[in-house]
Amino acid sequence: MNQNFPSLFSPIKIRNLNLKNRITMAPLFLGYANPDGTTSSLLLDHYQEMASSGVSLIVVENVGIDPLGLGSPFTLRIDEERFLFGLSGLAKTIHQQGTLAIAQINHAGRWAFMPEKIAPSPVNTFGSFPREMTEADIEQVIKAFALAARRIKEAGFDGVELHGGTGYLLVQFLSPRTNQRTDIYGGSLENRMRFPLRVVDEVLRAVGPDFPVGYRFLADEWQPDGLHLEETALYARELEKQGLAYLSVMAGTYDVFFNPDYLQKEKEEGYMVSFAKGIKEAVPSLPVITAGRIKTPGFADRIIKEKQADLIGLARVLLADPLWPKKAEQGLTEPLVACEPTCSLCLNRVAGGKPVFCSRWGKARQKKFLERIGEKEERD
Ligand SMILES: Cc1cc2nc3c(=O)[nH]c(=O)nc-3n(C[C@H](O)[C@H](O)[C@H](O)COP(=O)(O)O)c2cc1C
Repeated sequence: MNQNFPSLFSPIKIRNLNLKNRITMAPLFLGYANPDGTTSSLLLDHYQEMASSGVSLIVVENVGIDPLGLGSPFTLRIDEERFLFGLSGLAKTIHQQGTLAIAQINHAGRWAFMPEKIAPSPVNTFGSFPREMTEADIEQVIKAFALAARRIKEAGFDGVELHGGTGYLLVQFLSPRTNQRTDIYGGSLENRMRFPLRVVDEVLRAVGPDFPVGYRFLADEWQPDGLHLEETALYARELEKQGLAYLSVMAGTYDVFFNPDYLQKEKEEGYMVSFAKGIKEAVPSLPVITAGRIKTPGFADRIIKEKQADLIGLARVLLADPLWPKKAEQGLTEPLVACEPTCSLCLNRVAGGKPVFCSRWGKARQKKFLERIGEKEERD
């Protein structure tokens, strides 16, 4: 037993997966894939480093299930057989470090980067308007999710995670702000849940009962007229009934990510933990992951000990200090390198379509990275 952080370093079993500790890498898109959606050596090296950090599980960044649903030109893809080879290599890279690997699959809906965007309703999306999905679109996307999940299994991953967060397609159907349909997919909560629940159902059927299916879960849109715990807790119960393996809880969507009050809130340690706790109370049988500036192992240990969540997700925190889990395990004899709350370099790089590096990396590492991607050293 770890003397310093006993709860954080206690094992947990999720379905058939034995996690050696409660620390996971939360999905973090860094723009390292090739422009055709295949894996690159930059991406593989990154995941190798993350997998050797001491986390028990890596959730690989969102992988696109459909050409119309890609969040960026550098999004990994799994919408065709030809992507299997590269993703198998990625799963192997993570496994070689003794770490479990789950891949997140996604359709970005109205936040896709393609000129033609589809969504439940044609709502204003930073000045552009997506096309309302037809019945045929709905059926096609459900099939694409199922096919993608089966390919993730074939690629050798230990599980698949559906991206129901960040304001992407699954949650666009759930939210009354973005779903203004008058058919069986819109209106009441029961109708708004219909599409994502059908996706979950088809995915579970496609991968079979022994393959863990997790869900990135939006607990609150952080908008007065958006989704709140009152409704999302009911949705969580439906997901629990369907037989998901875990929920990875988050809050906020692209509609608020750039608002000053969100940016203020987002600087606080554990800014999404209360939502994870709320969802955990609603679905006590489902393991819950919480992420969001979990800066210190002491704080993380308390979250687990107080049963606010079952697992910790580190995204930018792990990128800033890939030794965070090892330093924690060794009782913090070496200081942590903290992700700087006032820095938005990773977000700005993603928004600018450039591969991400971290301002907290040492100068030599930053220089080497920029040389590798063929970029001059001046910062944007
Ligand atoms: C640049 C960037 C990319 C992200 N990519 C994803 C993603 O692909 N899928 C996802 O569910 N969340 C994604 N997230 C959200 C993170 O998983 C995490 O919830 C959030 O960053 C808070 O954790 P942190 O403070 O440790 O970064 C991303 C966040 C950032 C900043």
